[in-house]
Amino acid sequence: MTIKTTAPGRVNLIGEHTDYNQGWVMPVAIDLKLEVRLIPRPDRLFIATVPGFDQLQSYNIDSLRPVQGQPDWIDYLKAVCWALGKNGYRLKGAEVTITSEIPIGVGLSSSAALELAVAGALNKALNLNIDLPQLALICQQAENEYVGVRCGIMDQYAIALCRAGQALLLDCLTLDYQHIPFILGQYSLLIVNSRVERSLSASDYNQRHNECEEAVQLIGKYLGKPFNSLREINLEDLKKAEEYLPRLYYRRSRYIIEENARVLAAAGALDKHDLVSFGLLLKRSHAGLRDLYAVSCPELDLIVDTAVADQDVLGARMTGAGFGGCAIVLLKQSAVDRVSAAVDEAFVRNGWLRPDFYLTAAAVGLKVECE
Ligand code: GLA
Repeated sequence: MTIKTTAPGRVNLIGEHTDYNQGWVMPVAIDLKLEVRLIPRPDRLFIATVPGFDQLQSYNIDSLRPVQGQPDWIDYLKAVCWALGKNGYRLKGAEVTITSEIPIGVGLSSSAALELAVAGALNKALNLNIDLPQLALICQQAENEYVGVRCGIMDQYAIALCRAGQALLLDCLTLDYQHIPFILGQYSLLIVNSRVERSLSASDYNQRHNECEEAVQLIGKYLGKPFNSLREINLEDLKKAEEYLPRLYYRRSRYIIEENARVLAAAGALDKHDLVSFGLLLKRSHAGLRDLYAVSCPELDLIVDTAVADQDVLGARMTGAGFGGCAIVLLKQSAVDRVSAAVDEAFVRNGWLRPDFYLTAAAVGLKVECE
C-alpha cells in the first residue's frame, strides 16, 4: 500500500506574528505544493529521499533526539515521528519519497507542508484517526520542541485546513476558525519572492517571541493586573503603560495590538467584497511590520513600495516571518506583468538577485489518498 499526501505552501494575507501572541491570522493555501509517497515498513526504520535534491537518509524511530543547531530536511520527518510518539501513537517505519515545488526558506511554509504531508501519510497508513486540527497541533509541537523554532500555529493550521477559494480566519487563542470567501474577480494575488533566504530557526524569530512575552509581563506589572498575552491588552492599557515601558517593547506591543484589529477589519472587508479597504489594511500591516515590529528588510520594502506606486495595486505587504522571504501584492490582473517588470527592474538597479514571481489562487489544504 502506498499513501500519497499533497500539502500546499501558504501565504498569510494578514495577521503577521500574531499567532504566538494568541491573536488572529488569515492565511490562504497556495498553488505550490509538496507531495509525499509513503510505504509502511514492518520494522522501526524510516528511509527517506528527495529525488534530485539530496541522497537517501534514514533513521530509527527509537533513537530520536531534538535538533541542536540548524535543522536539515530529514529533521522535520524525525520531528513528526518524535511528536507522534510523544502523543502516545505507536509508529512503524516507512519508506518515504518527497517531491516539492515549494521554494525552501523563503517564508512559504515548505517545512510545515513537509510536516503535515508526513504526519497525514502516517495517520492514514497506521489508522491513527487523528483529526486535522490535532494533526496540525502535533506538527507545531514537532517544530517547537524537536526543531527548536517557537513558531505559532498558523502555518500548520493553514496547511491542514484551508479550502479552495477561501481564506482561513483563525483565532489562535481559542483555535476557532472560519472559512472566508476570498473572491478576487478582476484582481490577482501575486507572490514575489525576494530571494533573501532567512531561516526561521534564526534567533530573530524566537527573539520577537521573547520580546512580546517580556512586554506582557512588564505591562501587567505596571498596570497591576497580570495578562496572559498581548491579545488581552488593548491600546488604552498600552498607553497607560507607555511611559514605563522600554521603547522597543512599546513598539512591538503596539504593532501586535493594531495588527489584530486589522485582521478582523480585513475579514469584514472580504465579507463585503470590499477589496479596496482590504488592500489598505495590507499596506498598513506592512508599515507596522517595517516600522514597529522590525521584521522587514530593504528587499521586501522595495517590492512593496514599487508595487503600491502603481495605480492598479490595491495593497502589498511582506508575508510570513519576514527578515527576507516573500511579499504579496493584490492587484488588477491586467497589471501583473507591468508591476512584476517594475519590481524586477528595481531589483536589477540595486544589483540584487532578481526576484521570482508566482500567481496563486487560494488553494486547497492537505489531501490524503491511497494508491
Ligand atoms: C512563521 C511561523 C508562524 C507565524 C509567522 C509570522 O511562518 O511559523 O507561526 O508566526 O512566521 O506571522
